[in-house]
Amino acid sequence: MAKLLVANWKSQKSLSQAQTWLKTVGELLGITTLPGITPVLTPPFPFLVPLTPMVQDLGWQLGVQDISPFPAGSYTGAVSGANLHGSPVKYAIVGHSERRHYFHETIQDVARKAEQALDVGITPIVCVDKQTLEPQAAALGEAASKCIVAYEPTGAIGSGNNAPLAEIKEFHEHVKRLFDSVPFLYGGSVDELNINEYLLVTDGVIVSTASLAAQQFVKVLKTALGNAKVT
Ligand code: PGA
Repeated sequence: MAKLLVANWKSQKSLSQAQTWLKTVGELLGITTLPGITPVLTPPFPFLVPLTPMVQDLGWQLGVQDISPFPAGSYTGAVSGANLHGSPVKYAIVGHSERRHYFHETIQDVARKAEQALDVGITPIVCVDKQTLEPQAAALGEAASKCIVAYEPTGAIGSGNNAPLAEIKEFHEHVKRLFDSVPFLYGGSVDELNINEYLLVTDGVIVSTASLAAQQFVKVLKTALGNAKVT
C-alpha cells in the first residue's frame, strides 16, 4: 500500500486561500506522479466541491475531517454519510482528539461515525491515543478491522514535541493486537525534518501545522519522496 500523507487543515483557510495553496503546490511540485505516496487532502466541508477538480488534477485523494454519527435525517448542521455518497471522498477522520475534547465526542459517537462512513464506502481513519485505544477498539467491534488507525498522542499535536519512534512502534503492537493488521498512521508535529523516520515504521502520517503553507507541505512531500533537490 502506498504511504498515506494526510494534510489536515482543520478549520483554517478561506476558499481563495485554499485554491491558491493547491495552485502553488502544483507549481512547486511540478510532477503529478508520486511513487509510493498517496497525499490525501482533508479540507473544510464547504471546500470539497470547489477543490475537487484541482485535487484530482494532482492525482491526490480527498477526505473529510468528520462525519455525522447519524444516518440521513433531521440532524441540522451534520454532514451524513448519505450527503457524501457518490462524492470523491475516500477517507473520513473520526475521533480526532480535538473533536473528543472540544465537541465532547464519546467512544460510542466515534464508533457510530466510523460505521456511518463504512456504510457509504468511506474508510474511517480512527484517531486514538493511549487512553482511547482499547475502549475504541471494543466499541468498534467487527468494524475495527475495516478502519485505518492513527496514533495521535495529544501532547505531540501542534507542539513540536513529536513522539519518539520507540513509542510509536510499541503503540503499533497494541494496535495489531486489538485491530488486526489494519493500516497504521502517526500524527503529531510531523514535518519535513522527521517524516522519513515515521514512514519507516508506519503506513503514513497526518500532517496539520506543516501542511498549512504550500511551500512547507511541498518540502514534506519531496522529503518523503526521497527527492534530494529539496530547497
Ligand atoms: P500537527 O497536527 O501536525 O499540527 O501536530 C496533527 C494532527 O492534529 O493530526
